[in-house]
Amino acid sequence: MNNVPQHVSIIMDGNGRWAKARGKERIYGHFEGVESVRACTEAAVEDGVKYLSLYAFSEENWNRPKEEVSTLMELMMESIRKELSTMMDNGVRFVVLGNRARLSDKLNAAIDGMMEQTASNDRMTLIVFLSYSGKWDIMQAMKKAAATLSPEEFQNMEAADFERYLVTAGIPDPDLLIRTSGEERISNYLLWQSAYTEFVFSPVLWPDFRKDEFRAALREYSSRDRRYGKVK
Ligand code: IPE
Ligand code: IPE
Ligand code: MG
Repeated sequence: MNNVPQHVSIIMDGNGRWAKARGKERIYGHFEGVESVRACTEAAVEDGVKYLSLYAFSEENWNRPKEEVSTLMELMMESIRKELSTMMDNGVRFVVLGNRARLSDKLNAAIDGMMEQTASNDRMTLIVFLSYSGKWDIMQAMKKAAATLSPEEFQNMEAADFERYLVTAGIPDPDLLIRTSGEERISNYLLWQSAYTEFVFSPVLWPDFRKDEFRAALREYSSRDRRYGKVK
């Protein structure tokens, strides 16, 4: 495939509807969604994508019923435990970004362990956005900048300086953002970082979004003309 995006990001949506359509509880959709994470990660590694980022849980998702939130956190915990060897075999560096202060100590410890063990893998970086929102990121960056810089430095700050305080510092902006399940909105995801990202909306629900669907989105991306405001 030519013109492979360096950074692909996915808003993984539609787990609840997938389960409901089968007369099951929402959590079954989340369980099945883990299989799609595995499939898309594999496809991304195979196709030479350098960064794959996944919106797994938003700051707003904390407002869901308690049982669903705790199941999602347990699922995250379990997936970390299960996937370590696959990540090592495939040279995948694992990173979690978001408001980590809201996660349990146990989950934070598991995340830290996984991040440390995979830190020097360099085939692909898999970023999981957990307890993340775009507005939160911009706010925390602004506060960090204000606490670090002198008033004069703060006044003279440029966009490239500010970006160093976002949790995504050092990670290239997404080239392609996929949202599944037919919804066509950003839902407070990478607001700053998606300034020039190409969007692909797929009607497929996340648990059904596997390698073929992932590759179809990559093909769609390769046909896009990115102009960045210029005349070509
Ligand atoms: C995406 O699926 C997973 C998370 C947001 C955690 P949803 O749970 O939003 O599924 P729908 O949109 O209700 O179908
Ligand atoms: C966006 O999905 C968040 C994640 C996929 C983690 P939601 O299902 O929470 O978004 P809305 O509420 O439909 O906008
Ligand atoms: Mg949803």
